[in-house]
Amino acid sequence: MPRLSDTTRRRILYGGDYNPEQWPEETWHEDVRLMRDAGVNSVTLGVFSWAKLEPRPGVHDFGWLDRLMDLMHANGIGVVLATPTSAPPPWLGHLHPDTLPRDEDGRTEWWGGRQHFSHSSTTYRRHAAAITEAMAARYAGHPALTMWHVNNEYCTYDHGDEAATRFRRWLRDRYGTLDALNAAWGTAFWSQGYGDWAEILPARRTHYLKNPTQVLDFRRFTSDMLLECYAAERDIVRRHTPHLPVTTNFMPLWSGQDAWRWAEEEDVVSVDLYPDPRDPLGAQHGALVQDMTRSQARGPWMLMEQAAGPVNWRGANHPKPRGLNRLWSLQAVARGADAVCYFQWRQSRQGAEKFHSGMVSHAGAQGRTYQEVKQLGADLAKLAPHAAGSTVPAGIAVLHDWHSWWAGAQDGRLSTRFDYPDVLRAWHRALWEAHLTTDFAHPEHDLSPYKAVVVPQLYALTDTAVDNLVAYVRGGGTLVCGFLTGVADEDDRVRPGGMDARLRELFGIRTLHEWWPLEADETAACDGFWGSLWSEELEPDGTATETVRYKGGELDGLPAVLRKGRAWYLSTLPEPAALRDLLARVAADAGARPVLDGLPAGVEAVRRGDLLFLLHHGRDPVTVDVPGTHRDLLTDATVTDRLTLGRYGVAVLTEPAS
Ligand code: GLA
Repeated sequence: MPRLSDTTRRRILYGGDYNPEQWPEETWHEDVRLMRDAGVNSVTLGVFSWAKLEPRPGVHDFGWLDRLMDLMHANGIGVVLATPTSAPPPWLGHLHPDTLPRDEDGRTEWWGGRQHFSHSSTTYRRHAAAITEAMAARYAGHPALTMWHVNNEYCTYDHGDEAATRFRRWLRDRYGTLDALNAAWGTAFWSQGYGDWAEILPARRTHYLKNPTQVLDFRRFTSDMLLECYAAERDIVRRHTPHLPVTTNFMPLWSGQDAWRWAEEEDVVSVDLYPDPRDPLGAQHGALVQDMTRSQARGPWMLMEQAAGPVNWRGANHPKPRGLNRLWSLQAVARGADAVCYFQWRQSRQGAEKFHSGMVSHAGAQGRTYQEVKQLGADLAKLAPHAAGSTVPAGIAVLHDWHSWWAGAQDGRLSTRFDYPDVLRAWHRALWEAHLTTDFAHPEHDLSPYKAVVVPQLYALTDTAVDNLVAYVRGGGTLVCGFLTGVADEDDRVRPGGMDARLRELFGIRTLHEWWPLEADETAACDGFWGSLWSEELEPDGTATETVRYKGGELDGLPAVLRKGRAWYLSTLPEPAALRDLLARVAADAGARPVLDGLPAGVEAVRRGDLLFLLHHGRDPVTVDVPGTHRDLLTDATVTDRLTLGRYGVAVLTEPAS
């Protein structure tokens, strides 16, 4: 199987989406000069080029792309070639309205934007395959070609008639019989029993709450249909270039794809990451996405897109202050990225994203953005021989599962005051602030490599997953579970007792009497901290070895936190410092060490291979103790015992000389 290292060859890929069809050819030559000056060694071409490559059905114009591929090759810049299938040309929708997706109200999503394709449309799939085939055949032997990028941010839903037909087929494969489907969906409720497959619809608009398992299956189906589209194009390009890796770019924490399953179908896992420069927890959000992507990749991964400056899709779109682009890019390398790329190379002058930054902003080569891009290119070249291909050791796994997220996100739940990603972020933040490096894992993965496993929230768990957690603890592992875990099975059927009996036994819970959600501004006082979002009325079975209790209110004296040996259950979300301290203590007991002790606030430390990355997320200088003598790869300076990091400063240290 081709890998990312086949393309990087001990370099860090640096570059981004390049959309030269928006520019006259003279500009291409300036682009290439600026790219070379900045150390750019990889560009992604073709992402939105379908109308340019196939202006009329079956009529191709590859001449401009031929010239670009040659130009890139002549300048030593590799090309990640994208199949252009996320933005079909107007003629496709015009000639074949069946290629257009429908929303839950049956309204058509028209061309004029992008991603206006139905994953279920046979006609769309045929045309997507044809342009992919034509591109793969033409460029298979081109020396500039280093990797394939299929489509772009697969994220569409379709509730149309062809989707309905495919949904029924998908359900037949899953359930076999209507009886099994009726049982799984609980259709005895509200007179929903199906007597004919033809009666089943995608999750279209209903008068009141929809059947939650139907919605859950529709999400599973959508992820699977998009994956079929990806796999079809991947198989075409693989046939032509079996030696080249194939990827498609994920959106971080995007609810529409089961990325665990998708990652298995990719040679390279890549992600697009856009933390808000104004978000005080932007760096932690970045770390979370990077940890998750690395875990999906099971090794080095690709930062396919980030912004050199502002995006254009927030309420107010802030630029990155001086140094922040470098800091966040090096954070990605610290956490395992072997590619640092952007959307896009040159900021557009027209179109929907003309106010979205590029590596070359409207200010041009003299602008601060490009100048910083150039500096980063030099930094990456210094790091590459030492960092590329190496791994990031993590002692702790955070469990995450899309199906559980989907099941728990249903309408009609007990609280809409929080969403699952909020909970996931809160737990990852606690570990990040404790300088504990974490992987992510699926609840059915082998957890034995980890000293501790944390479950922020897994509302729905399969029997296999529950058994996996129990076996992990029985085998000597330490497990910390957050509230609303193990409530439902994979059909979203509530487990008897409101929480799986095996888990209740594991944590020392006899009865879960009631869930007590908290209002947005409400807290629950506990011994030593306050909790938010949620609380529970638990009756312990007397086997707990440690209990933290609610203080005051209706739950006064009842357990907020239960520990039974190496298994912990938290029935509320402790305030950030309390969750951090608790997880730090549990990790220490389990033998998972922070990357470095005594780090000043705002300094992130990550080990990658035999390098120590120190990343300063603040503006005021700080001093960091780093016992021993090291070399800072970025400055080539010798560092003995301590160093000072300035505003958004980064040091990448070699192991101390012994
Ligand atoms: C996504 C897309 C890009 C671009 C950026 C803007 O990541 O893949 O084409 O639209 O968003 O942030």
